[in-house]
Amino acid sequence: MAAKPDARVPRHLAIVMDGNGRWAKQRLRPRTFGHHAGQKAVKEAVEFCLRRGIGSLTLFAFSSENWKRPATEVSALMELFLKALDKEVDELHGNGVRIRFVGDLDAFAPELRARMLGAMDRTAGNTSLNMNVAVNYGGRWDIANAARLAIEAIARGEFAATELDEARLQHYTCLADQPPLDLFIRTGGEHRVSNFLLWQLAYAELYFTDTLWPDVDQACLAEALDDYARRERRYGRTGEQVATG
Ligand code: IPE
Ligand code: IPE
Ligand code: MG
Repeated sequence: MAAKPDARVPRHLAIVMDGNGRWAKQRLRPRTFGHHAGQKAVKEAVEFCLRRGIGSLTLFAFSSENWKRPATEVSALMELFLKALDKEVDELHGNGVRIRFVGDLDAFAPELRARMLGAMDRTAGNTSLNMNVAVNYGGRWDIANAARLAIEAIARGEFAATELDEARLQHYTCLADQPPLDLFIRTGGEHRVSNFLLWQLAYAELYFTDTLWPDVDQACLAEALDDYARRERRYGRTGEQVATG
């Protein structure tokens, strides 16, 4: 019989990688310096998930609202994404990581979009870790997009409008093929969701740390997992019901 997965280890971890700008400011450097420094923490997170057997890691890299930032910061981030794609995909692929970009990719320059699609294609057969990178992503966009896709399916006659329920709508949301979100981590000290995975967060455990993203390492993530392991997930039931299975 296959070993039962350890319920104390999340199957799906999502991280709002926040605090790059403040990290740079503390060092009297421009905000983009912090974004560059944050790349090391991404590697730490990937390595951590591979080591701990966490199957899905979803990282918030650029929100649909981040376009509002100064044009210089936005273009520096786009440049950084492009460079990171060139630099990191080989190693990720070598480690069996499947890369997926989630969000509205149409807004990106054709060159960047092509690299994103290329990385997804190239790693599509990998199974060690699903690494989902949320770019131009918004939780409300995800839900609205799912609704539009469901309506299109209804118009094609695939099912009746009266049959559209939570399970059917979920099918059209990003990450529907991956395990339910178990643990949400936000670094950088803010206690908010900032339009990340609104649908998927319904029963996720939330963990906040003041550590700024570029300072995040395996020990910091291990603390989050230890905290998660102590939680009792009740899903609406009583503690007694949970205890008796
Ligand atoms: C998160 O760090 C990275 C992105 C949003 C791209 P921030 O840039 O938001 O850093 P702070 O919150 O200003 O410190
Ligand atoms: C959320 O961080 C988005 C990412 C980390 C990519 P923000 O820094 O944009 O969030 P707010 O503006 O503080 O809510
Ligand atoms: Mg921020």
